[in-house]
Amino acid sequence: MARYYELRELESKAPRLFGIPTGTKLDEMFFKIEVEDGKYIKKPLGGLPYLSVMNITGVPDTGKSLLAEQFAVTQANAGYRILFVTVENPANFLYTALKQKSEAIGANFSRVEENVVVIDASESEELRENPRALLDTMAYAIREKKVTSVIIDSITGLYEHKEMMARQIVRQFFNFLKKWRQTGIFVSQKRAAQASESAEAAGGLAVAHIVDGTIVLDKKLIESRWEVSLYGLPIGSVLRTIRIDGCRITGHDSKTWVFEITEFGTIEIIAPLSEYIKGQNEKRKA
Ligand SMILES: Nc1ncnc2c1ncn2[C@@H]1O[C@H](COP(=O)(O)OP(=O)(O)O)[C@@H](O)[C@H]1O
Ligand SMILES: [Mg+2]
Repeated sequence: MARYYELRELESKAPRLFGIPTGTKLDEMFFKIEVEDGKYIKKPLGGLPYLSVMNITGVPDTGKSLLAEQFAVTQANAGYRILFVTVENPANFLYTALKQKSEAIGANFSRVEENVVVIDASESEELRENPRALLDTMAYAIREKKVTSVIIDSITGLYEHKEMMARQIVRQFFNFLKKWRQTGIFVSQKRAAQASESAEAAGGLAVAHIVDGTIVLDKKLIESRWEVSLYGLPIGSVLRTIRIDGCRITGHDSKTWVFEITEFGTIEIIAPLSEYIKGQNEKRKA
């Protein structure tokens, strides 16, 4: 029979609240409230909330995979085992991407090589189409390799052509990460038709509703004179933004931030959009 808990019994099971670094400014955008000298102060968590499962969503080419890879390299370089389930990008391409990123952030690549475990679902129909087979492979890897964080790029790739299954599949993978006490990132694809700044992904809101929080990446092509003047960017350029859309585990910044993709393929979060626009206008006047 199912049982109930008294709240007190849950204390020993409650995860400690601290950050798992991503190697980006996102680490300072999650925070917790602490009381110091009778005053409430906001303390940056220093990463994604420990044991959270976060959804990174956006239309194609917004930097989702780059962000997931930067997280993987940062964690692996710090000595933690990461499981990277690659669903779209074949594993040999992932190797090159992680190598380049390691060089860009000055990570020790031999340590990264040792600490990143890869499951290539991109070239296995069985793993993509049969969640049970993928979950079993993941459980094996997590147990054997003592993995602490899991990335699935992308979760939407696991329910292509069967979007009515989206909720069920996302829920299965979410529960699995909870059971195995993993911090997780699900990358989810948006369709061009979906509002690009929303948390919705292919399959509807299944992912956003199930996960602990969502990070939305977006890009805007500067294509009118009005945008040139508002953003202070040349016509035809791209403005990239990132925003924490919600997180049920801890407090977070809710502003839209501007970021850049460096020539090494790393993510550099620059400033809140409002400050960025102000800065661009001041630069122009000077
Ligand atoms: N190594 C790199 N150097 C510079 N730019 C890159 C590099 N890798 C990717 N990019 C740029 O970043 C964009 C976003 O890449 P990606 O993270 O793969 O997008 P998504 O996963 O959201 O589809 C690419 O379209 C490309 O313009
Ligand atoms: Mg991608």
